[in-house]
Amino acid sequence: MAIKYLKSLDLAGKRAFVRVDFNVPYDKSMAITDDTRITATLPTIRHCIENGARTILVSHLGRPDGKAVPSMSLAPVAERLSALLGIKVMFVDKPIGQGASEMLAGLKNGEVALLENIRFYPEEEKNDREFGKKLAELADVYINDAFAAAHRGHASNEAITNFIGECAAGFLLENEIEYFKKAMVNPAKPTTAIIGGVKISTKIAALKNILDKVDNLIIGGGMAYTFLKAKGYDVGRSILEADHVSTAKTIIELAEKNRVNLLLPVDIVVAPDLDSADKKKLARFDSMPADMEGVDIGPETIRLYEGVIRGSKTVVWNGPLGAFENPAFAAGTNAVAGIVAESGCLSVIGGGDSVSAINQSGYADKMSYISTGGGAFLELLEGKTLPAIKALDR
Ligand code: 3PG
Repeated sequence: MAIKYLKSLDLAGKRAFVRVDFNVPYDKSMAITDDTRITATLPTIRHCIENGARTILVSHLGRPDGKAVPSMSLAPVAERLSALLGIKVMFVDKPIGQGASEMLAGLKNGEVALLENIRFYPEEEKNDREFGKKLAELADVYINDAFAAAHRGHASNEAITNFIGECAAGFLLENEIEYFKKAMVNPAKPTTAIIGGVKISTKIAALKNILDKVDNLIIGGGMAYTFLKAKGYDVGRSILEADHVSTAKTIIELAEKNRVNLLLPVDIVVAPDLDSADKKKLARFDSMPADMEGVDIGPETIRLYEGVIRGSKTVVWNGPLGAFENPAFAAGTNAVAGIVAESGCLSVIGGGDSVSAINQSGYADKMSYISTGGGAFLELLEGKTLPAIKALDR
């Protein structure tokens, strides 16, 4: 792909439209509970400020469905951003129309504005060309730093690029692309994918695509039980997607055909349910109790996975290996996080739950790269070209 990067843009005195993903979690009082996605874009924003651009930040928050929903306003984000940057960020509550143009006309070189939630306009998610054109009129150059939304082809990350001469990827998007390439396109071998999470149904395309690329595929989390069922074992009351047992069989066959070493849990922590940690015990994969469910991988499985991870040069990880939200069932995920972190391999982690799990494990800062993308990261694993990245390809 021929994508321009932020470093190559001359920004002095220019109005820079920067698409960011400030879709951050917040509580009932609208206090932001995790600002990772804001801090991740600071290098791009600071670069624009330092190079004399007039920076116009654009993001969505939640799914307001084309209507102005006050509880999904980006106003609290403007405040947090002002605090992080140490300068006042202008908040433009009506991004389109004369009011916005007048406000933005007052923006000086080195100053920053944040527009209100762009999904308050129905045209955004429709990828409306006219709307993209109106957005383009606000700026001279376009920078996309919103990797987490790059799997959406919307007006502010796709249509707009047809109307601005210069388009580039910001530092965050550049990093996301580069690390993904290092992990999945030109990886140092051997390569291992760790795929967990609750359901196999959400990961089928990713699993199939990965089997073309990796040497080892480690399976964990709820989806492991559908694989065990496909191998003919009873899984008690574990999560089971009965209509995907055949999918699991296909994936097992594909792994054999591609000579990928597919690893499943050999011992499993089981409990009567997710609230009964005091009754947890260990079971073998081939003798899971009928009245219990699998909640984590056991110590023998951890050792088995450790051997493979230590022999790898690259690890890509999506999805936790157990019901990690309950600390009593997080030992497997935590132990594997520690092994990956200390193995010295290139480690790239992506997907909402996996990132929370790695953060909880305490090993986040020892990983090579933690993606800001959930759905976007999964679609890359599926081998898809993301529309917002394609739109930057000139
Ligand atoms: C995300 O959080 O995954 C992105 O911001 C995209 O949000 P969406 O799923 O509402 O399009």
